[in-house]
Amino acid sequence: ISLKPFNTFGLQQNCLSLINVDTKSDLISTCDKLYKGDFPLLILGGGSNLIFTENYQGSVVKVSTKGIEITSDDTHYYLTVQAGENWHQLVEFCLARKIYGLENMALIPGTVGAAPIQNIGAYGVEFNLFCHQVEFWRLDTEQLITYSNEQCEFDYRESVFKQRLKNLAVITQVTLKLAKHWVPVINYGPLQHFDLATVTARDIFECVCHVRQAKLPDPTMLGNVGSFFKNPVIPVEHYNSLKASFSNLIAYEQADGQFKLAAGWLIDQAGLKGVKVGGAAVHQDQALVLVNLGNANGSDVCQLARKIINAVYDKFSVVLHPEPRVIGSQGEIDIK
Ligand code: EPU
Repeated sequence: ISLKPFNTFGLQQNCLSLINVDTKSDLISTCDKLYKGDFPLLILGGGSNLIFTENYQGSVVKVSTKGIEITSDDTHYYLTVQAGENWHQLVEFCLARKIYGLENMALIPGTVGAAPIQNIGAYGVEFNLFCHQVEFWRLDTEQLITYSNEQCEFDYRESVFKQRLKNLAVITQVTLKLAKHWVPVINYGPLQHFDLATVTARDIFECVCHVRQAKLPDPTMLGNVGSFFKNPVIPVEHYNSLKASFSNLIAYEQADGQFKLAAGWLIDQAGLKGVKVGGAAVHQDQALVLVNLGNANGSDVCQLARKIINAVYDKFSVVLHPEPRVIGSQGEIDIK
């Protein structure tokens, strides 16, 4: 079965079987059965953060569970959302009901169930700011477990689901906690021109949609998985020495005193915009995004990624780490 329609990079690889599930009980029973079988198992949401480098010798479960329930107390709304709901549609759903907070994360591709895994974020906010609980089926112990925000161990594009619970947790639903008293977040680049006193959530939503559409290629037109690398975080000493050589270095100081660099800027400065390997290329408008010019295969993508990692390391002594998960024949692999 072809995975091409199921990954936004548009890579042509096959899997042994692909099963669509649309209820929570079906999701759990299907994953439980497959986990006990002889072949690897991959849980698929929107396929917007996966790079398939080979035919996958296992089963893929496509999560299509739907449902949003809203409750509230004096101060907050609580939205319990099934894993297969589309993230952007949830953002729009909230906006239409005057439940605010998610607008900075408009147009992030993918499903709600995938959001906690890499702690999606954009334009000054991250998923973890609104995450109350995550419910998941634990494959090895066969339990339905609910984790609090703290237990998810969120960090920049990181969570327990990419670490200790990697390949062991099937996220079934997520509960978001959104304050009734909305405080706009407008400190990130293109939102800074807004006035805190007058800005509306819809203003932010529209601005974010506009900026993303202008900068990021539409995966239905040009295959991609958004940012291909994480923005690297480096110690202050390293930052100081780089800043001495590159005065226009783009960096943001972190709460712990380290500095987060703009990987897109590093790649751009290394002269890699537009560079191609086979059918894969560095996007012309945003160097952090790799695109499929039409017939890229997994090995083109890996070679291009390796070329970028090496060039950036040679120029800045900074190691870039891929942001999407790279899937080989048996499961997740490191780009070599
Ligand atoms: N820049 C360049 N050249 C480039 C690309 C970027 O000089 O080719 C500079 C920009 O001018 C800007 C800085 O680098 O000063 C940062 O760029 P941008 O604001 O576009 O954000 P980013 O660091 O490239 C991150 C996230 C995005 C998210 C945006 C907005 C990561 C890995 N990426 O990108 O998330 O939308 O900030 O918050 O953290 C994603 O994860 O897939 C993603 C798209």
